[in-house]
Amino acid sequence: MKVYKAQVLTYCLMRNFAGSDILSTKDLTREEIEFILSRAEEFLPVARKQKTLNLMEGVVLAALFYEPSTRTRLSFETAMLRLGGKVLNVIGLDNSSVKKGETLYDTGKMVDGYADVIAMRHPAVGSVKELADGAGIPVINGGDGTGEHPTQALLDALTMKLERGGIDGLKIALVGDLKNGRTVHSLAFLLSRFKVQLILVSPKQLGVPEEVKEFLHFSGIGFEETESLEDALKVADVVYMTRIQKERFADPAEYERLKDVFVLDRALMEKTGSKATVMHPLPRVGEINNDMDDLANAAYFRQAQNGIALRMALLALVLGR
Ligand code: CP
Repeated sequence: MKVYKAQVLTYCLMRNFAGSDILSTKDLTREEIEFILSRAEEFLPVARKQKTLNLMEGVVLAALFYEPSTRTRLSFETAMLRLGGKVLNVIGLDNSSVKKGETLYDTGKMVDGYADVIAMRHPAVGSVKELADGAGIPVINGGDGTGEHPTQALLDALTMKLERGGIDGLKIALVGDLKNGRTVHSLAFLLSRFKVQLILVSPKQLGVPEEVKEFLHFSGIGFEETESLEDALKVADVVYMTRIQKERFADPAEYERLKDVFVLDRALMEKTGSKATVMHPLPRVGEINNDMDDLANAAYFRQAQNGIALRMALLALVLGR
């Protein structure tokens, strides 16, 4: 039986995660985030192939990815396989009975009988919740349209902790398509639990949704909005670049106008004197030049690798292991 977060939050700041869905970072308290990050750090040697751990023997993960993914699907899969479990995959809407009109609620009811835990991605906001309502096993949101991507935000937080020694006190610039970027929405919700300052860097058309701003206001998080990456680089401790999300644009010409609006390269880092930790959820499509990759503070590939340990920790927690 699932544990429903809203009920539990009334009573405590820290729940037992066993049986829980992970759908949104809005649902997580600071204590819970810190607990997940600590568990993820314990899994780092396993994720980095320095240690083996047979924690998931006999456990099956269903990875239902109805929208393209490299990192999220493969790191969930890697996490389960390296812990001794097994994985079922659905890749693409065309390869499941959702294509024939089966509801996600019914799909959840069915997969419940095949697997022990579900990781899911889908192009529609709210879709993962719809499937989770049908499934009795834990469901983890691997990205629902322009909505949220909570496991990405958690691995981003883990990366900030590992790269900067902690999250409190950081000035963090979120850069790019802040309107459509679900990683930004989940990360903003998560960071609102910490003492941070945010700089929101985007073209006016691609600003953070009002819902996210209201959440930041309500949480007492200071933030400013700007269109200047250069200004942000001069003051930020962490620069979180994101791509302009071509697949979310109704008008291809609008995408073409905006796609190269922010490009971070070594020359710009030198010009601004920036020593910021540079992060990106990836994939990048030109907004971070390859000449950045050798910089010590270019953390984006380490960030992606941290996703394995983070997802190991989440799987262990929701499965009660
Ligand atoms: N960061 C991320 O979600 O990457 P993928 O789309 O490759 O899973």
